[in-house]
Amino acid sequence: MADYTPTPEDRFAFGLWTIGHPGRDPFGEATRPPLPPGDFVRGLADIGAWGVSFHDDDLMTFGADESERRRQLDDFKKALAQSGIVCSMATTNLFWHPMFKDGAFTSNDRDVRRFAIAKSMRNLDVAAELGAPIYVFWGGREGVESAASKTPADALDRYREALDFLASYVVEQGYDIRFAIEPKPNEPRGDTFLPTVGHALAFIETLEHADMVGLNPEVAHETMAGLSFYQGVAQTLWQGKLFHIDLNDQKIGRYDQDLRFGSEGIKDDFFVVRLLENSGYSGAKHFDARPYRNEWGDGIWDFARGCMRTYLILREKARQFDADPRVAEAMAAASVPELAIPSVGPYSRAAADELLAEKFDPEALASRGYRNEQLDQLVIDTILGA
Ligand code: GCO
Ligand code: MN
Ligand code: MN
Repeated sequence: MADYTPTPEDRFAFGLWTIGHPGRDPFGEATRPPLPPGDFVRGLADIGAWGVSFHDDDLMTFGADESERRRQLDDFKKALAQSGIVCSMATTNLFWHPMFKDGAFTSNDRDVRRFAIAKSMRNLDVAAELGAPIYVFWGGREGVESAASKTPADALDRYREALDFLASYVVEQGYDIRFAIEPKPNEPRGDTFLPTVGHALAFIETLEHADMVGLNPEVAHETMAGLSFYQGVAQTLWQGKLFHIDLNDQKIGRYDQDLRFGSEGIKDDFFVVRLLENSGYSGAKHFDARPYRNEWGDGIWDFARGCMRTYLILREKARQFDADPRVAEAMAAASVPELAIPSVGPYSRAAADELLAEKFDPEALASRGYRNEQLDQLVIDTILGA
């Protein structure tokens, strides 16, 4: 019987803004004191996590002078060295300061756009110094409330311009960093540019350095859009673009909840874990979630331990599922393996002639079942431990 204790080999990571989130929301003040970065990192080591991620402003006070920034950064580096926690991802805060109210890379104000790019360059230097292999771009304020306020094509041009410029900067500096775009449909803006995995995947293909840009999909964001996170991650993997992942949970049709991983959409989460484990994905399993606002003291660490524990339980369930002979039988009845067989193969005149000459029996093709009910019940039996 597994005890579900995480180890650094599991590559679980948390953002500095997550476990220590003070509980501020649009309707109320903070309900807990902040957790200083050093304590945060030591706490991560205690619970068996592996990595930490940060926004520039989580680590170094916005607007602080160079010597103060250096002092804060050096303190953090010391905590990392002492705890053995690695810096697994970095990102820019381009949403908090009031100047970003109209957007950052897509603000209508050119000076705000230029400031946003410079802020990102400075933090790319920090990311490189800390050895972060992934740099995330979440366009929190890149969007509109009034559709009349921006020409979408201009906004996408400016978004692309910023990412092309920053990717070239990384290449020129010789940094070993890849970019991961994090799509989200809304919140804090009414409509966000690059709202879903699909939009972002298509956008990446237009970039100058498309090879070094992938995705950081998040459970809550696809769920808010009413989409299956599992299907989105699967296509991202299929296109070789799963560079990072934000695990949390979310009820469909609600505000952005950032719930503990596995606390709501257990069935989709089961398939996500099974997919990650079977795909050979070796990046961070990063939790971008926060404790319930009414937690206090060790309760926030219950939250963090719970994210990892549920992942490990689902991993065990996925292995059980894949090893169960009844599942193999039900999959055969559903013709699951048959989908892996090419339908026609590459085009040739002979293959086309053979296909056109083939006799199909529509009645016979229509009069079969796929036995998906028994297959899906085995999923439920496995998850519930029946
Ligand atoms: C959100 C986002 C953010 C980003 C973070 C890193 O909904 O607020 O998920 O938490 O992930 O800014 O880019
Ligand atoms: Mn989010
Ligand atoms: Mn996120």
